[in-house]
Amino acid sequence: MIIRTHCGDFRKADIGQMVRLNGWVETNRDHGGVTFLDVRDRSGLVQVVAHPEIPNMHKLAHSLRQQDVVEVEGEVIARVGETINPKLATGEVEINIRSIVVLNRSETPPFLIEDDCNTGEQHRLEYRYLDLRRPVMQANMRLRHKVTHAARNYLDSQQFFEIETPILNKSTPEGARDYLVPSRVYPGAFYALPQSPQIFKQLLMVSGMDRYYQIARCFRDEDLRADRQPEFTQVDMEMSFVKQEDVMAVAEGLISTMFEAGTGEKLNTPFERIVWHDAMDRYGLDRPDLRFGLEHVNITELMKRVEFKVFREPAEKGGLVKVLRVPGGGELSRRQIDDYTNYVSIFGARGLAWIKVNDLTDIPGGLQSPIVKFLPEDVLTEILSTCEAENGDLLFFGAGDAKVVNDALGHLRVKLGHDLGLIKEGDNRFVWVVDFPMFGWNGDEKRLDALHHPFTAPTEEDLLKLDSDPLEVRSQAYDLVWNGTEIGGGSIRIHDPVMQRRIFSLLGISDEEAEAKFGFLIKALQYGAPPHGGLAFGLDRILSLMVGAESIRDVIAFPKTQKAADPMSQAPSEVADDQLKELGLRKRRTTV
Ligand code: AMO
Ligand code: AMP
Repeated sequence: MIIRTHCGDFRKADIGQMVRLNGWVETNRDHGGVTFLDVRDRSGLVQVVAHPEIPNMHKLAHSLRQQDVVEVEGEVIARVGETINPKLATGEVEINIRSIVVLNRSETPPFLIEDDCNTGEQHRLEYRYLDLRRPVMQANMRLRHKVTHAARNYLDSQQFFEIETPILNKSTPEGARDYLVPSRVYPGAFYALPQSPQIFKQLLMVSGMDRYYQIARCFRDEDLRADRQPEFTQVDMEMSFVKQEDVMAVAEGLISTMFEAGTGEKLNTPFERIVWHDAMDRYGLDRPDLRFGLEHVNITELMKRVEFKVFREPAEKGGLVKVLRVPGGGELSRRQIDDYTNYVSIFGARGLAWIKVNDLTDIPGGLQSPIVKFLPEDVLTEILSTCEAENGDLLFFGAGDAKVVNDALGHLRVKLGHDLGLIKEGDNRFVWVVDFPMFGWNGDEKRLDALHHPFTAPTEEDLLKLDSDPLEVRSQAYDLVWNGTEIGGGSIRIHDPVMQRRIFSLLGISDEEAEAKFGFLIKALQYGAPPHGGLAFGLDRILSLMVGAESIRDVIAFPKTQKAADPMSQAPSEVADDQLKELGLRKRRTTV
């Protein structure tokens, strides 16, 4: 009996072997009466040859069409001279057919099953099972498997238990909208799908499990972007009796292992660190891309001296004025500057003042700008020296509310980094962002918000400021950022029920609400909860960065569209009235 061999595995050393292979016909060519088939399975592709000398086999081979499924038996023979294909792993050999069986026929596929299929994503998702047959998608799934497998091995080597936590839950507090599942048994009551296993993993620490991990599916009903899915996967972990440094060290080991499994490259650890405040000051974002410079320069103090209201007012009223110096940016056209001005408006910026530095020795004559006329010479000189400006530079200015300025100039910096080609191909920069503030101010609801989640512990040093100056309190939270994408985050948790209640109350969560939502966690903290902390990595984001995919959908077998739908199965879909009735639900007539 001949054992099945995989299409992509044949090499010169196999010449003379009788083999059996299975796969899908990719192409079928006729060269002077000889039929050549390319047959592919997930391991790759091999050329199969049917000669007219075995007429029935040749006839069958000749009749095969794209994506028919076949079983071929034959001999591995050498290709010679020009027929050798150096681009193909199996290019030095081919299979001389002895027998061929058609296992199944295929309709003409709706698009070419090739990497360059030239088809819209909607169409690919509708026929995802065919899309996944394309080599690039098969490679992505293989990578996902390898990286997940490596993560499991690493965590196992670090004495973590893999434990599953429930999907049908009470609401969890990661700040997005919940997906709800109505209960049939308790009419009017709902389960929430987990936004993360956060509470359960903390409960597992109370249970004495010491170290937990899970490749966990999370569900968040939020506005979707290229790097977000309504259901996505975390490599989630939690550890007992640890400090921030311990969690970060394990996380670095984990990420390096996953990175090496995925790319074959080693990472240098420990990773760089930046405190949140510096990240905001220098890059405007809490997920800085360190692959290029273009750091922000803060000129708020200086702007308190000027008449120009656009700059003075925010400077005086607790806002920000920042400069982004673009070396050589003097070359940018008015049109390009206008485009960047439109771009920052997405983030709420009211404008984007600029100065082109033509001649530093001539101030203000050597400066080209719509705003120099509003700024005195000495101030201009000081701006230029603070920014270390050089001839040929362009300075962009953002002024206004701190959040808007940081957001606008932070995103502008990233865009310029890409547009100006400042990013070296293959460069990878990992950085921990630490010392996050514990709270942010929710202007709409006039209350504090947890910046990570409400179970995150404040730093010991800042405990005294909790009541007097909560916005100044730092938390023991940390995010890992890879080339400007947040790939993971975690914190040391509160393990003291009194402190947990106090934080809920600072967040404007009443005792009753805290009891109703998280009573079971607070209760558990009363029964000898150990100090603990952990972190979760976004697996899909990590994989998409590894393969340079445009969206995380390319590393997920069956993802949802940006509108949270599945074009293949047509989920979400309406359900029958009696199904609703059973759940105690009724459709409301909508007027939209
Ligand atoms: P957080 O909410 O920061 O933390 O999530 C952790 C990581 O998950 C990824 N991620 C997403 N990936 C794809 N689609 C989404 N919609 C999405 N949302 C988040 C990100 C993010 O860094 N329980 C805490 C972790 C902890 O404290 O241990 C949590 O869920 O890469
Ligand atoms: P204006 O006086 O509004 O015409 O603005 C003069 C220049 O300042 C223009 O180049 C605007 O783009 C710019 N500008 C206006 N508002 C802001 C702002 N909030 N931040 C930065 N530049 C601004």
